[in-house]
Amino acid sequence: MTDILQMIKEKIKEVQQNPGALFGLLYPYLLVILVALGLYYASNLDFIARQTVPAFLPEVTVDSDLSIQPARSVPPINILDYASANDEIIAEGEKLYKANCSSCHGENGAGGGPAAMGLNPAPKNFTDNQNWKNGATLSGIYTTLEEGIAGGAMLAYDYLLPVEKISLAHYIRESFLTDKPEDSQSDLEALDLTYNLSAGQQLPAQIPVASAKLILLKENELKTNTIENIVGNINQDNSRGASIFKSVSKNPVKSISFLVKNNGWKQFERNFIDFVSNNVNTNGFDSGIFRLTSDEWSLLYSYLNNNINL
Ligand code: HEC
Repeated sequence: MTDILQMIKEKIKEVQQNPGALFGLLYPYLLVILVALGLYYASNLDFIARQTVPAFLPEVTVDSDLSIQPARSVPPINILDYASANDEIIAEGEKLYKANCSSCHGENGAGGGPAAMGLNPAPKNFTDNQNWKNGATLSGIYTTLEEGIAGGAMLAYDYLLPVEKISLAHYIRESFLTDKPEDSQSDLEALDLTYNLSAGQQLPAQIPVASAKLILLKENELKTNTIENIVGNINQDNSRGASIFKSVSKNPVKSISFLVKNNGWKQFERNFIDFVSNNVNTNGFDSGIFRLTSDEWSLLYSYLNNNINL
């Protein structure tokens, strides 16, 4: 006990003589407090982070790639036969609506479907008479389905058959609209002309861009493999033709790709000689080819002709 008192007295004296020593005495305690605060902060980081990050995460990604469509012919229709709704058309429209549209426009057509969250502009509330961009007429809705609406999530449904688009338009008009604007005869005629309704159409097949890219990659890979195989074979080949090739190509991969990508040279030796000579250097061959005798040209030509099969 007296030891401790003695120690404290000494410390006090030290501080009296040199006030700066107080800092040295308190520093370890300060450090402990700072570390404790730091640990507390770190252990609550998850909570703090969760509180400060904005809470918006879009739950629905709108897939805007093209869908797979087989080539098909669209039968001609007379729009005037479809100008007014009937039960059959509305039933067809309802099926299509539930499968394709209600996720955004809602089962009751008032917008706010499960996929509508976070969309700006929001999916149209069909029960609202105002703010129709293409209009709520048959031709207006048809146009929306053909073209989509730029700058938002309303994509084109142009792959639907004309009858399907008409059914959807009638279903929306009959089920949700509080006020149904009608097309004039000339509106319908204009629609017919714009979308070839009475002429019918041949639609080409369509695949998603992502798949098209994969196909291109695969095709390219095939070509790359072919080139590598040919170069590999030549490297192992000690025949006269292979030796001539190796002596005049400073970049075999480049030379072979050049020959693989163009096939006009295969027809005649003359074509081959011109083709290779005219593109020296850019095609991987070097100026050594200008010293080849005509026998050597012939050997090189028949060697490559036999080994590069396109
Ligand atoms: C991914 C969500 C989504 C889906 C699915 C969707 N829509 Fe829309 N739709 C929208 C949005 C968003 C708007 C508002 C666009 C704007 O005002 O720019 C809209 C607007 C419309 C309009 C109003 C056009 C106008 O003149 O203002 C019609 C009609 C329409 N959609 C019909 C359909 C039909 C029919 C389907 C199903 C085949 C469908 N939509 C599927 C999001 C969607």
